[in-house]
Amino acid sequence: MKPKISIIGAGMTGSTTAHWLAEREIADIVLVDIVEGMPQGKALDMTEAMPVVGKDVSILGTNDYADTKDSDIVIITAGLPRKPGMSREDLLVKNANIVGTVARETYKYSPNAIFLILTNPLDTMTYMTMKVTGIDPRKVIGQAGILDSARMSAFIAMETGVSVENINCYVLGGHGDSMVPLTRHSNIAGVPLNKYLPKEKLDAIVQRTRKGGGEIVGLLKTGSAFYAPSAALAQMAEAILKDKHLIVPCAAYMQGEYGVEGIFFGVPTMLGRNGVEKIIEYELNDEEMAALKVSADAVHKSVEKLKSLVSFE
Ligand code: APR
Repeated sequence: MKPKISIIGAGMTGSTTAHWLAEREIADIVLVDIVEGMPQGKALDMTEAMPVVGKDVSILGTNDYADTKDSDIVIITAGLPRKPGMSREDLLVKNANIVGTVARETYKYSPNAIFLILTNPLDTMTYMTMKVTGIDPRKVIGQAGILDSARMSAFIAMETGVSVENINCYVLGGHGDSMVPLTRHSNIAGVPLNKYLPKEKLDAIVQRTRKGGGEIVGLLKTGSAFYAPSAALAQMAEAILKDKHLIVPCAAYMQGEYGVEGIFFGVPTMLGRNGVEKIIEYELNDEEMAALKVSADAVHKSVEKLKSLVSFE
């Protein structure tokens, strides 16, 4: 029997995640949404694509959480996306209600699952999931750093013409405008970025990375990015199911690492069958640590707002 991944929210990111996962043929997939017929229709459509791509994967669409029973991984994408002019924080009140319900319902049926969260504001919704389920924080992981780092890598590739496979970028911190692209640690096949690009170009790429989500929202007008976020989710799910011990930036629960405590925050994590196996601590200079602190303060503020809205007792 294949492992089972349930994706809650069959909208743009949820269904595209199912698509990437089906192509990888690593798990059977359950797509859940509140809208009747839509997850069933998308699942059937994808099922009908499997003979073409030659993948033996079961894809079920449903409105019933009972179908998620005994999932190995639960991916939460349910919630509202941004519209132009909105920040991720503007989604907090509405998405907290949705994520709270979804986390409780899925946990009931899959208490041993690893939870991957995508709904924004990301770091706070990941915190919410841990609180309402009470599960081991290492088994709740937010997707953000892979996406932010991939955006930076894509911009570097566009600027230099080097293969994306040679570009290693690391973006840490919260998934908001104060995220911290680590230019000093990022490199092209081992060569520091500043040997390839002048400072002004690099600074512009850092700024574009920070605003990368907003750039897509501005272009799409009716929703937010979904191809890159869902590709990142699929990479995380595969690393966990295959127990790869893959080191990637993810939102992990902080217990003093990088001087941050009590929130989910983007740091290099080692992903394996137990979720976050380890948080890797880079040696950062004072400037980088100060930037991380600004970002952590923004996440703390958001979590405080959540706590003022929801009682976890
Ligand atoms: N239970 C299940 N599904 C729900 C619920 C709920 N309580 N509430 C909303 N949904 C579903 C919607 O019906 C919709 O199909 O969540 C889906 C969200 O899909 P989209 O609107 O297409 O949004 P998407 O682009 O996928 O973004 C989802 O991910 O990246 C973040 O900021 C983004 O918070 C947003 C989330």
